[in-house]
Amino acid sequence: MRTVTTLLAASALLLGAGAAVADDHDRIEIDGVVLTLRAPAPAYLENMDEVMSGWLFRSEETQALQLDDFDNPAFVFLDQAMDDWSRVEGSEGKSCASCHEDLSGFAGLKTVLPRVVDGGLQTMEDIINAERVNRMGAEPLKYDSAAMNRMVALIGLQSRGMPMNVAVDGDAAPFWEQGRELYYTRVGQLDMACANCHEDNYGNMIRADRLSQGQINGFPVYRLKNAKLNSVHGRFKGCMKNIRATPYKPGSEEFKALELYVASRGNGLSVETPSVRN
Ligand code: HEC
Ligand code: HEC
Repeated sequence: MRTVTTLLAASALLLGAGAAVADDHDRIEIDGVVLTLRAPAPAYLENMDEVMSGWLFRSEETQALQLDDFDNPAFVFLDQAMDDWSRVEGSEGKSCASCHEDLSGFAGLKTVLPRVVDGGLQTMEDIINAERVNRMGAEPLKYDSAAMNRMVALIGLQSRGMPMNVAVDGDAAPFWEQGRELYYTRVGQLDMACANCHEDNYGNMIRADRLSQGQINGFPVYRLKNAKLNSVHGRFKGCMKNIRATPYKPGSEEFKALELYVASRGNGLSVETPSVRN
């Protein structure tokens, strides 16, 4: 069997041994909230001992932007989401704020999403659209739109510091299996799986970028590259395009199952929303 390193070389992607993660942080503190950056890998992860936040793999400059909410560019979008929160829309003449006194009641919600509801996987995006349609009589937001991503971030922020804890068993099991299958299946012209980069090679350099474990506990993340909030499914799509595979659509059943599986690979890590990445 060819190793992933030769595969990468063959596919003209440059992979170099990076300096080992030059970071001995175990936790950081943001706005008085302590975030756990490393946790023992859940038992169902056969090939890893430790799960690690993507923050550990970024440059010091990028890391610094996440340590202070005044420096974190994501907060511009969170301010916009606060405006959306109290804007009346739809046939019922209501805003989110008409019914919800504040946002703090959503603490913990992100840690358990996606989850199974009525036999299907429910993401934060699904909840927000159900609230808009069923309670406000408003139009659903496009799944991977700016307005959706900032509301997902605003609700996710309420869980910052709490450990990710998605369910993988019971009625979640078949979805988790489907996500696992997607994670380990090689696809695209480069014939690679998520695991080839984010499990076999985290810490190593690929082109000018240091590979992380591909965790999603900090999503939506602000990326310096495109100066906006990026959704989980948007990131999955980008990674699939990079290996020249045809990506699934944001909001598709495939990406929801993959999201559940990838979220479960970060069970034990703190919610970091909104993270800053390059
Ligand atoms: C007409 C009243 C009403 C409006 C308008 C409304 N909600 Fe809700 N929402 C509720 C009720 C009632 C619940 C269920 C009880 C609870 O969790 O507070 C709920 C639940 C939720 C939950 C928690 C879901 C869960 O399973 O834990 C979220 C998140 C939420 N709403 C977000 C929003 C957002 C975002 C908006 C605006 C886009 C909104 N809501 C508009 C009444 C409303
Ligand atoms: C060819 C290597 C490669 C493959 C294959 C790949 N990715 Fe990535 N991915 C990257 C690079 C490079 C980055 C940016 C650096 C980093 O965070 O790892 C990234 C970033 C990510 C991130 C963001 C992590 C963070 O902390 O912001 C997620 C999530 C992710 N990938 C998930 C996936 C999933 C799911 C798959 C499979 C569908 C996949 N990737 C396949 C190279 C890859």
